[in-house]
Amino acid sequence: MLLIETQGLTKHYAAGEGTVAALSGVSLAVSPGEFVAAMGPSGSGKSTFLNLIGCLDRPTRGEYRLVGEDVSRLPPDRLAGIRNRRLGFVFQSFNLLPRADALANVELPLVYGSVGRRERRERAAAMLALVGLGERMHHRPSQLSGGQQQRVAIARALVNEPDLILADEPTGALDSRTGLEIMALLQGMNREGVAVLMVTHDAEIARFASRCLRFHDGRLVADEAQAPAAASAELAALDDGGARAA
Ligand SMILES: Nc1ncnc2c1ncn2[C@@H]1O[C@H](COP(=O)(O)OP(=O)(O)O)[C@@H](O)[C@H]1O
Ligand SMILES: [Mg+2]
Repeated sequence: MLLIETQGLTKHYAAGEGTVAALSGVSLAVSPGEFVAAMGPSGSGKSTFLNLIGCLDRPTRGEYRLVGEDVSRLPPDRLAGIRNRRLGFVFQSFNLLPRADALANVELPLVYGSVGRRERRERAAAMLALVGLGERMHHRPSQLSGGQQQRVAIARALVNEPDLILADEPTGALDSRTGLEIMALLQGMNREGVAVLMVTHDAEIARFASRCLRFHDGRLVADEAQAPAAASAELAALDDGGARAA
């Protein structure tokens, strides 16, 4: 079964007297476990597309099936349930709760489910260990670096075992080396089976996906498979270079 299937997906926003066509007639299919990058200039409709796929918004026209279920006309409360069950979100600005420690941030998606308190803690702790933050579970976001905060956000996105991670410019606030670490983490999670749909305007980052979509003026103008670069190998090469220079 397909993970994502859209047919003529369209989103118009009211703007002054008229409307803006933020997204126009996007049709595509994504299989489980793919790693897809969505590229395009500012204003081309990338975030609008991600918000529709993420069930954060509803299309003006067109169809959207997520794991076979038509979600294009569901009311907001049903969409919230689908988001919680099937999707994980990663944002450029991390979007962590500032007063909660890493563990509580990662537990958050489980609070709305039926998971008991003890299991919540255990699953959140295991996720933090998986992203390399086992020693920092009780640090608040302000006590963590940008890269560490993004790791917490990725642990939070994964704790519900989603089918799909949606990431809007996940490395946009990070330096290039830290961005590479985040891409290595996302590629590792993708190898374990979770699909990734990542918006980026940065070709350096899009290289790590195995498929690249290009948007222009709200239209999907290109959709190509590509051989993905390996982020962990590039990191190792960087470290190796650094060690030799030292
Ligand atoms: N909530 C909104 N209300 C009105 N116009 C919007 C809204 N969101 C996006 N747009 C417009 O839709 C177009 C696509 O925006 P967006 O999806 O954010 O592009 P991108 O993420 O590629 O920069 C732009 O022209 C933008 O100004
Ligand atoms: Mg955007």
